[in-house]
Amino acid sequence: MRYALFFLSAAFVSFATQALDKAPVNAGPYVPSPSSVVADMLTLAEVGPKDFVIDLGSGDGRIVLTAAKVFGARGFGVDINEKLVKESNESAKLQGVADRASFTIQDLFKTDIRKATVLTMYLLPNTVNMLKDKLLSELNPGTRILSHDYPLSGWIPEQYRQFDLEDKVAITGVSTTLIYLYVVPAKAEGAWSARLPANLSKEPVRFSLKQQITRISGSARVGGKDVPLEDARLRGERLTFKLAIGGKPYDFTGIVKGQAIEGSVDGGGSKAAWSAAATK
Ligand SMILES: C[S@@+](CC[C@H](N)C(=O)[O-])C[C@H]1O[C@@H](n2cnc3c(N)ncnc32)[C@H](O)[C@@H]1O
Repeated sequence: MRYALFFLSAAFVSFATQALDKAPVNAGPYVPSPSSVVADMLTLAEVGPKDFVIDLGSGDGRIVLTAAKVFGARGFGVDINEKLVKESNESAKLQGVADRASFTIQDLFKTDIRKATVLTMYLLPNTVNMLKDKLLSELNPGTRILSHDYPLSGWIPEQYRQFDLEDKVAITGVSTTLIYLYVVPAKAEGAWSARLPANLSKEPVRFSLKQQITRISGSARVGGKDVPLEDARLRGERLTFKLAIGGKPYDFTGIVKGQAIEGSVDGGGSKAAWSAAATK
């Protein structure tokens, strides 16, 4: 009997732990983004018919519905509130966009977001930041992320808008409204062996790049010296920097795709191709 009780209570503890594990984290209460903010967010990200928009915590569906109806995009939203998801799918039918906008009852932390070209969120500040690793690991470089009011700490926004909106006083107590636009960066960190135009170097040039999410810096081994890259920037897959070779400045542009970079170098009155391969 004692053993039976022990096993029963162990089973109960395990069941309760599993149930707790399964309860989704509440990422934020239902507060709709004002319609003008929705329009501003989608405009800032230049959403168009080629885009697939995912709204994490979609509320009444307004972001994905507007993206489909006004901007011609496709997409889906997820929310843990069953009633709001039902309402959103009904609105999609009523607005004639059910073939391009759908909504599911789902925990946003467990949602597969790999298909997004644009990802939107209006969530609590701490939950926005809980999503950072997921965003970096699942989203393709170049995907635009829009966050209403709360930034991703440590990420440099590509753009942001700040304005006053009276509608927001009832929501947050202040009229200040912020929209952050981020672009998911490619992974450029590491050592690269570059082939430059022969007039710049006949030998492969070693580049060392350091990356902190959207920030990039580094140097190139030129003429036996480590020369720092100036104005290095990484926007999605697009890497740009300036490098002085033989005392002359050159502008480098490249597209980072996995283990390769391909682009052009501009300077001294001519433009030519350069490429690089990641080294171990
Ligand atoms: C501030 S509202 C934003 C609604 C909509 N995105 C908008 O901007 O109008 C946040 C929404 O996230 C939903 N939510 C909270 N935690 C969630 C979770 N773990 N998974 C999915 N949705 C969640 C809430 O039910 C709520 O509808």
